[in-house]
Formats: sequence, C-alpha cells, structure tokens
Amino acid sequence: MTSTEAEKALQGELFHAFVPDLVAARRRCKYACDRFNKAGEVSRRRLVELWRDINGIDDAPLADHLSDPQEDDELLKDYPWIEPPIRVDYGTNVRLGKGVFLNYNMVIVDTCLVTIGARTLVGPNCSIYSGTHPLDPALRNGTAGPELGKEVHIEEDCWLGGNVVLCPGVRVGKGSTVGAGSVVTNDIPPFHVAVGNPARILRRIETSLDPSQRTTDVFVSVEGGKGVVEAIAAVDSQLLWRKKIVPAAILRVSRKHFRLRADKSGSPT
Ligand SMILES: CC(C)(COP(=O)(O)OP(=O)(O)OC[C@H]1O[C@@H](n2cnc3c(N)ncnc32)[C@H](O)[C@@H]1OP(=O)(O)O)[C@@H](O)C(=O)NCCC(=O)NCCS
Repeated sequence: MTSTEAEKALQGELFHAFVPDLVAARRRCKYACDRFNKAGEVSRRRLVELWRDINGIDDAPLADHLSDPQEDDELLKDYPWIEPPIRVDYGTNVRLGKGVFLNYNMVIVDTCLVTIGARTLVGPNCSIYSGTHPLDPALRNGTAGPELGKEVHIEEDCWLGGNVVLCPGVRVGKGSTVGAGSVVTNDIPPFHVAVGNPARILRRIETSLDPSQRTTDVFVSVEGGKGVVEAIAAVDSQLLWRKKIVPAAILRVSRKHFRLRADKSGSPT
C-alpha cells in the first residue's frame, strides 16, 4: 500500500479502494492467503514462511533450519501460530506480537492498522474489521464511492472466544477476555471480561500477573544526550489506557520517562 489512496486509508480518511494499486495489493494478499490455506501437511517453518508472505512486511531471513523438527519449532516459537484458513485484505497492515495464536476462519479487514499483542489467543471464526463505509448511500456509491477505516488494537495477553467480531476503532485492553459471539463496538479496558452484542463489561479480572508484567510494550523514539534512539519500552498498561495511547503508536519521549528493555529487535510485541 503505497499510493495516495493508501496513505489516506491508513490515516483514517475517505479513500477509493478500487484504484489499480489497491486492487493489486488485495489480489497479492488473496493469493498469499490461498497458498497458506492450501499448504496442507507442512512444517511449522513452512507455515511461518507462508504467513510472512501474507504479511509482506518482514523479509529478513528466518534463523537457519535445524534438522530436528522439534528443535526447529522451538527456534520459531515466537512467530505467530495461525490455523488455516485465514483471510486478510492487504496483509501489510497487520502486526502480530510474539506467540499470538489465531484459530481457524480468522478474517482480518486491515484497511487500517490492526495490532494483536503478544500471547493473545483468538478463537475460531473471529473477525476484525478495521474498514467501514459512509452511511449515506449517495456518498457510499458502491465500489465507485469512497470508504474509510479505523485502527483496531488488541493488547497483550488477551483472549477472544469463538465468533467474536471487533468493529472499526476498538481497542481491547491488556489481559482482557471477550466472550464467545460478542460484537465489540467500544473499547474494553485492561483486565476485564466483556460479553454480548454489543459487548458489555461483565466483570474485572483479578490477575496474579506480576505487577512488572502489567505493562504494554510500545515503540519509542527516545531523545537522549547522544541523539535519538529507537527502542521498545514497557509502559504501565493502565497509564497507556488512561492516556489513550495505542501500542502501535511511536512515542517521542525523553529518556527519564521510560524503562527501556534490552530487546531492541523492533519486532512488534
Ligand atoms: C465469557 C466466558 C469466558 C465466561 O466468563 P465467566 O466469567 O465464567 O461468566 P459466567 O459463565 O459466570 O457467566 C456470567 C454471565 O454472563 C453470561 N455470559 C457468559 N458468556 C457469555 C457470552 N459469551 N455471551 C453472552 N453472555 C455470556 C452468562 O449467561 C451469565 O449471565 P447470567 O448471570 O445472566 O446468567 C465464557 O462464557 C465464554 O464466552 N468463553 C468462550 C469460549 C470459547 O469461545 N471457546 C472457543 C475456543 S477459544
């Protein structure tokens, strides 16, 4: 997604989806999904490769193949676990954290950025819709009219039951659970259970997670004495929530505000 229309889409502005490069981008992703879904009985390494083909954003080589299948799986344990079939629109607007699990029949409409944080589990038949259309049919005008989207963010350590639908613009806070069949139309705060259509908070989750783990990793661009350093920082989840900062945001901050982690791989977590 590189054209002006693509840029508008990512900004959440009205854009035309049936311009040649966006049609081509969706077709690229469709064929990549087809290859993933038809892969059959293949190794985890092959599925990781085929997912990276859908995702289209990371062409760094995988770690060298190990002949022992279990050892090879261990080597790749941080890559997402995705059960075919999956269907994604563009692929390039999806960011999956370490060890994310997506069960079968996942649908992701990634008109805008869709992020799923580390260790999040997604049940079968779930759909994430970051795309939407004008309600006025005169403006919507079928495929000739403009459309738009809003980012969707699922933070780390969440669980979505089966048949959950996430509507454009929602954010599921760290550690939260969404019950089977729920349609999420509003944000769900960290460490809560939400159920129903529309999803409503059922209760708070008492967690035994160590307080130091009640953080969300965000990209930061830190201004220090020697210039700007790009890194990943662990930020208190409740603070992020209160400040309405999404995990995919790139924060430009002064060094004293954040505890920097050693991991500077740049991979989304
Ligand atoms: C949400 C869930 C985790 C249960 O949470 P819980 O805190 O144990 O909730 P309870 O079973 O005590 O139910 C509390 C209330 O919420 C309701 N409720 C529970 N799950 C619900 C759901 N998915 N949708 C709507 N209402 C639901 C119950 O009917 C009950 O209502 P009541 O008090 O009027 O009787 C569970 O119901 C669920 O949806 N699990 C998903 C399972 C799944 O999808 N598995 C697929 C593999 S990932």
